Amino acid sequence: MVFNLFPRSKWLREAQELAAQTRQPGPARIFLTGATGFVGGAIAAALADTENFKEMLFLVRAKSAAEGAQRVRQSLARFTPPGVPPPLVLERQVIVADLNDADAFSDPRLDAVSHVIHSAAVTSFADRPDIWRVNVDATMRLAERFSQEPGLRRFVYVGTAMACGVARGAIVTETLRLPLEHAHLVPYTASKARAENQLRERFPELPLVSVRPSIIVGHSSLGCKPSASIFWLLKVVSQLNRFVCPPSAYLDIVPVDYCASTIVALALKPTLAFPVYHISAGQGSSMVGELLQAFQGMEGGAQGKPYERVAEAALKQMALSFGATARETVNTRMLHKALMLYGRFSRLNYIFDQRRILSEGLPPAPSFLDYLGRCHHSAQELPLREQMACDFK
Ligand SMILES: NC(=O)c1ccc[n+]([C@@H]2O[C@H](COP(=O)([O-])OP(=O)(O)OC[C@H]3O[C@@H](n4cnc5c(N)ncnc54)[C@H](OP(=O)(O)O)[C@@H]3O)[C@@H](O)[C@H]2O)c1
Repeated sequence: MVFNLFPRSKWLREAQELAAQTRQPGPARIFLTGATGFVGGAIAAALADTENFKEMLFLVRAKSAAEGAQRVRQSLARFTPPGVPPPLVLERQVIVADLNDADAFSDPRLDAVSHVIHSAAVTSFADRPDIWRVNVDATMRLAERFSQEPGLRRFVYVGTAMACGVARGAIVTETLRLPLEHAHLVPYTASKARAENQLRERFPELPLVSVRPSIIVGHSSLGCKPSASIFWLLKVVSQLNRFVCPPSAYLDIVPVDYCASTIVALALKPTLAFPVYHISAGQGSSMVGELLQAFQGMEGGAQGKPYERVAEAALKQMALSFGATARETVNTRMLHKALMLYGRFSRLNYIFDQRRILSEGLPPAPSFLDYLGRCHHSAQELPLREQMACDFK
């Protein structure tokens, strides 16, 4: 069965064409973790109209294979236009497991896998012990399971560009060795850095490629339908018209479908020039001031008033006054926390170099400004608490 139901973005088309030109003989048998998440769901959707989809395997947390298949299908549905049914996911494609399970990767169906895409992770910014168990320990067990597999062609580790830590220059290049704990704003990025370092040190025989997406916001054609993650915060900042970074700070944002199609292209391309790739807007990133203007142009809110840069100490009062004037009940404690954490990231003012992706013949990311209107439109009817829930799981 071939699915042609998805709106094929031009990036996906180009990425798939590139993969098709260079593909090795024989279909790929892809094992994907994290398909129920934002990025993993987009990766599954990017593969949904390819010959590889029906042979894909998904690791899913569920009570049964039927429930697991249903969860993957629901995740895929977020990436289909209204009225279009998501593709079928069969029970035989599902490996029911939690990454924490000691025997999560013992299923014999995994013996025939040619490509692993490991997208599952605990992405919370809170200091949770399972961050280390899932993001590091389970990732090592997965790598160990596949490190001696002769048929494995590629092991794609979905990392994060922010794993570079805090002390980098304005244009961040893809260093192989990432800094450890003390150099990170949150344990999550520290765990991603540790996992990537350990993968390289402990499994030199693994056909590993690390992909490091920058900040992922929305979908280039579906806006916030798949997830309003981070978008809601940008909108709140635009309404406040005050924040901790200068208006000249860059935010390196990519849409989830660009991110996913780039990951798929890198997974299927038989030869790659580098062991690590940013998936980023790079030099095409927008400045905070430009983004706020675009938001305000749509909403009319603080138009005309100059943006004010504030100290971190002002954020608590800003969250409280936002809550006091909002049309719905806002969890101001959560809002304050999010403003603080994302504020610290925004002050880093990072642009993640995207030249490696371009050198592989892959297209550049679209500008956030080009699809911001779609995100805005699709999130308009969603209560803020539901949008915030995307980032407070
Ligand atoms: N979103 C971004 O802005 C961004 C930016 C850069 C890099 N990344 C990277 O992209 C990857 C995916 O992120 P995301 O935004 O898609 O995260 P997400 O929406 O929070 O999804 C996380 C996925 O991991 C799965 N998972 C978590 N713990 C698990 C466990 N113990 N066993 C099995 N599965 C488990 C979740 O399954 P359940 O549905 O069962 O919870 C879900 O499918 C991560 O590696 C992240 O570091 C994301």
